[in-house]
Formats: sequence, structure tokens, C-alpha cells
Amino acid sequence: MDVYEALYTTRMMRRLRPDPIPLDTQARILDAAVRAPNGGNTQRWHFVAVDDPELKRKFAQLFRQARAIEYDKFQAGQGPMAVPAPGADPAAHAETMRRIKGSGNYLADHFEEVPLLLFVYSIDDLGGANIYPAIWSILLAARAEGVGGVMTMVLRNFEDEVNELLGVPVEQGWKMSAMLTLGYPLGRWGVAANRRPVHEVSSRNQWDAPLGIEVPRPLWPPQDQAEGLAAVG
Ligand SMILES: Cc1cc2nc3c(=O)[nH]c(=O)nc-3n(C[C@H](O)[C@H](O)[C@H](O)COP(=O)(O)O)c2cc1C
Repeated sequence: MDVYEALYTTRMMRRLRPDPIPLDTQARILDAAVRAPNGGNTQRWHFVAVDDPELKRKFAQLFRQARAIEYDKFQAGQGPMAVPAPGADPAAHAETMRRIKGSGNYLADHFEEVPLLLFVYSIDDLGGANIYPAIWSILLAARAEGVGGVMTMVLRNFEDEVNELLGVPVEQGWKMSAMLTLGYPLGRWGVAANRRPVHEVSSRNQWDAPLGIEVPRPLWPPQDQAEGLAAVG
């Protein structure tokens, strides 16, 4: 797959088929992930793949509770989802949140059917900087395999319970950075089009100065390939 196709179409896919992801596919995804850059090449990361139905059932209960906590915060105007970026359209943000909540409800309701949960652990991840390249590599490699998923953080509300269920040696400093749900999507891949354009979020030399580039539409796919790859929002 062309690298730009992977970059433009690695959407968060919340509607997944229950079919298992073969181990050789999981191997290719994780082997790509451990090639990611990391400070000092210390590789202080650990990936726990969970496909045991009983464990998934326990995580499903925690996930639904954790999500409720996050949406309570959102309703109260708190938490990372509540406030759009300065200059962004609040109505567009509200609509985006409505759509995320809708597809998030589907994921929460079908959590037990997600074929693979991938818990990503790290030690001292520098505010995420030391682990997000590997997480993004997982999602891009998964995309190349036709596997989709979502990166989630909400289970950090139940960090102790998760660590206990997975037998994490927390005394060594391991912390959960994210949990990815992975599987073969029910829907179509599409371009992540609901983004503010480059020229609205970039400048040159000074914060308020124009970038000197206008990008009114996504530059991939090239126009003749665009048909059939409609944005799925
Ligand atoms: C740090 C982080 C945490 C996220 N947490 C969740 C989550 O808990 N549940 C969820 O459904 N999506 C989660 N997402 C996915 C975002 O909602 C998604 O990337 C965004 O809505 C844009 O959608 P798109 O990537 O499909 O274009 C998270 C993404 C990031 C980077």
C-alpha cells in the first residue's frame, strides 16, 4: 500500500467483525511497531495482546464504566473532548462529538466481539511522546493488513484494575499508555476529511503570518482516484 494511502485512510474504525486476526498478521503489525523511533532506543514498551473471551468480558464492563465517566466530564465541560481548538467552529465540534459518541456507543455495546485488544505499556513515556510513534505504527501497519481499530485511553480510569487483570509488574514503572481495539472493519475505509485545512492551522515564521500554501481539499487521493473513496466522517 502506498504510504500516503495509509496515512490518509487510517481512520478510527469502531464497527468491527468478530473474525480473529491471524497470528502471522499480528506478528507483522507488532514487528512494524517495534521499529518506531524512541528516545535513546531504550524501547521501554510492552504490548499485551488480549483475545481471551473471559478477559475481554471483564474489560468490556470496565470500558463501559470508564466511558460513562469521560462523558460525564464532557457534559460538565471538562476533559480533553470538551473544548475545541481556539478558532475552530464550536458547532462543527459539537457535530463531531455527536458522531463520535454514536460510533463509540456501537463499540461499547459490541466490545466483547472485538477480536483483539492491544494494551500498550511504557515506562516514563515523556507525556506520550515516547510511545505514540509506536502506537501510530501499529495502526498504520494494521491498515496495510486491512485491520482497523481505535486508540483509546479511557481505561486509565481503572488503571489498577487493568494492571491487576493483566498481571502487570507495576513496581518496574510500567504504565498503560493506551488500549487499541483491533479487527476487520464492517465499513469502508475513507479519507480523514473532517479536518481543518493546513492553512488554517499552520503559519510561517510568525504565529499570525500566512503559511503561503492553501490546501482547500485533501491532496490524496489524486483526483482521478477520488471516486469511491468518499469520506466516512
Ligand atoms: C489520545 C487519543 C485518545 C482517543 N480516545 C478515544 C476513545 O476513548 N474512544 C474512541 O472511540 N476514540 C478515541 N480516539 C479516536 C478519536 O476520537 C479520533 O481519532 C477522532 O475522532 C478523529 O476521527 P478519525 O481519526 O477517524 O478521523 C482517541 C484518539 C486519540 C489520539
